[in-house]
Amino acid sequence: MGARPNFMKLAPLAHELTRRGTPHVIVHTGQHYDADMSDSFLASLTIPKPDFNLAVGSGSHAQQTAAVMQRFEPVCLETKPDIVLVYGDVNSTVAAALVAAKLGIRVGHVEAGLRSRDWAMPEEINRVVTDRLSDLLFTPSRDAGENLRAEGVPAERVHFVGNIMIDSLVALLPKARKQNGGAHEPYALVTLHRPANVDDPQRLRELLDALAELGHERKIVFPVHPRTRQRIDGLGLPLRELQLCEPLPYVEFLALQMRATATLTDSGGIQEESTYLGVPCVTMRHNTERPITVECGTNILVADDLAKLRGELAKILAGNAKRGSIPPLWDGRASQRIADIIVGAQLHCDASRTREL
Ligand code: UD1
Repeated sequence: MGARPNFMKLAPLAHELTRRGTPHVIVHTGQHYDADMSDSFLASLTIPKPDFNLAVGSGSHAQQTAAVMQRFEPVCLETKPDIVLVYGDVNSTVAAALVAAKLGIRVGHVEAGLRSRDWAMPEEINRVVTDRLSDLLFTPSRDAGENLRAEGVPAERVHFVGNIMIDSLVALLPKARKQNGGAHEPYALVTLHRPANVDDPQRLRELLDALAELGHERKIVFPVHPRTRQRIDGLGLPLRELQLCEPLPYVEFLALQMRATATLTDSGGIQEESTYLGVPCVTMRHNTERPITVECGTNILVADDLAKLRGELAKILAGNAKRGSIPPLWDGRASQRIADIIVGAQLHCDASRTREL
């Protein structure tokens, strides 16, 4: 695991493997390192202290990916795993998969098969390469399996297990419910961090203007990712209408999300969590690698069309939000299915695959 969206995917599987007595080690690459981007999540999700922390930190894509590879290889050589499990689509995911595959160690990809078909997104490159390198591909939805089939991935490698991030959500929802005792003024919850939205000052300024306009009608709560914080500070705008705060711990954010009038986001995970929670979600992206949240869930894509953004928000505030349902196997048991497959695969018996380590 390396970045914030990995933690809620690793936690349920680590707990499940521990419960079954399956030996494993946890490696944190250190891609995310701020206390409120990492430590607070490990605490909320009760992830034990990682056995290894590679402390790679920030850098260009090449620097970050290379640093993970250089520092992860000795961990594999020391621990000799039967399988390396990687999560999601961040730089740490593809870096660890490359190291393992080149050492002849099996790779299991949790959240395989998602495709935005947008090659300008670094995560899309990470997804495609990681899947190509993987021996066990655990998919969250049927569309992901179809993508893999279309790319020629043998069917026996692909396992439709459901959405593991929902395992964490289901486990911690009771705690999140307790956090919101009193009555609240209604609010919309905003997150923004994609380079396409925050790296171009003009685009960021327009988005913040549109959100400030919404702020006249509805309170806005906006926990700000460090990347976005740097960009906003660079603009030097007065942001009275937006209640900016630091990134929130998992349970606190979930508590806010479940009670929000709407979520406005460019995150992948929040599209899925909103669908599960039945909260209207407006996604400020042209595409989504999680189309099930649009087909089946509450998600609507508005791309960079600010008129559409305003229109969808007006509908939500008028009580005409899109309704949705929970996709198949988003039931809190994906980690059990993955553990069954890993343990059943008897990885260690097939010596022919693993090169001399
Ligand atoms: C990464 C993932 C993205 C995911 C996001 C969730 C990749 C390519 N991107 O993007 O898919 O949606 O995490 O948060 O892997 N920074 C800090 N403190 C931190 C981490 C980052 O200040 O703990 C700042 C640094 O200035 C850094 C910048 O944020 O340069 C971006 O961090 P980086 O890990 O490169 O990508 P994210 O934008 O976080």
